Amino acid sequence: MNNSLHITPLGPYIGAEISGLTLAEPLEDAQFAQLQQALLTHQVLFFRDQPITPRQQRTLAHRFGDLHIHPVYPHAPEAEEIIVLDTHNDNPPDNDNWHTDVTFIETPPALAILAAKQLPPVGGDTLWASGIAAFAGLSTRLQRLLSGLEAEHDFTKSFPAHRHQGSAAEYARWQEAATRHPPLRHPVVRTHPLSGRQALFVNEGFTTRLPDLPTRESEALLTFLFAHITKPEYQVRWRWRENDIAIWDNRVTQHYANADYLPARRIMHRATVLGDKPFWRDLDAQ
Ligand code: SIN
Repeated sequence: MNNSLHITPLGPYIGAEISGLTLAEPLEDAQFAQLQQALLTHQVLFFRDQPITPRQQRTLAHRFGDLHIHPVYPHAPEAEEIIVLDTHNDNPPDNDNWHTDVTFIETPPALAILAAKQLPPVGGDTLWASGIAAFAGLSTRLQRLLSGLEAEHDFTKSFPAHRHQGSAAEYARWQEAATRHPPLRHPVVRTHPLSGRQALFVNEGFTTRLPDLPTRESEALLTFLFAHITKPEYQVRWRWRENDIAIWDNRVTQHYANADYLPARRIMHRATVLGDKPFWRDLDAQ
């Protein structure tokens, strides 16, 4: 039987540790509502001691919405919606860059649920940054300039062909994915559909350019924004223990998985919940 939530903020802008829930069991409606509210406020939530099977993780994620099936990452045998991120010397990590998950599709994930299955003796922390805090930390002049601009996001920036040529089957899968996911545009500043908060929505993993600006201006601005969003003030860092779970709002955050643990092995399971089409609303005009 689940109890009510206990929420401990981990910083002023982003991150909270939650206790009093068993995520492998069905959540009561009131608990689920509290969880959603905590997610809106803290943007990434952490839970200790939550053993969960791939099927249970899928059920939990499905409570939040439809699930994304990743075009290239392998999945758990019993649940194709659960990505297996199994990294070691022969499969080195590829998520040690600041990224928001799957922004190369029209409706990028609303949230993701990550479960720690096997960890290195030390290292392998994950960091999250708040796009809301990063946007609020810009001058009003720059906020205005960015609001309404669009950015291009490209699948091949984080999944380049040369990383997917281990076998003919892997390369064919990559080619199909690359064809199905041509570059597309999202707003640089995104309005959260539920909270109405504004967030920076460019990420180094997938954002390639600001097509409405000349190339050099686009490069200079993106270089600045990629650095700005990762200021320690806007971050939270999680030191994993086995059976920890993190749930994050992928609409307004980005994250970085530290790749400091090789030759040790690290296995994580991720469920990814589809979201809505990002939009920007001019809140000053209302
Ligand atoms: C991810 O990039 O979605 C996974 C992060 C991690 O493995 O810590």
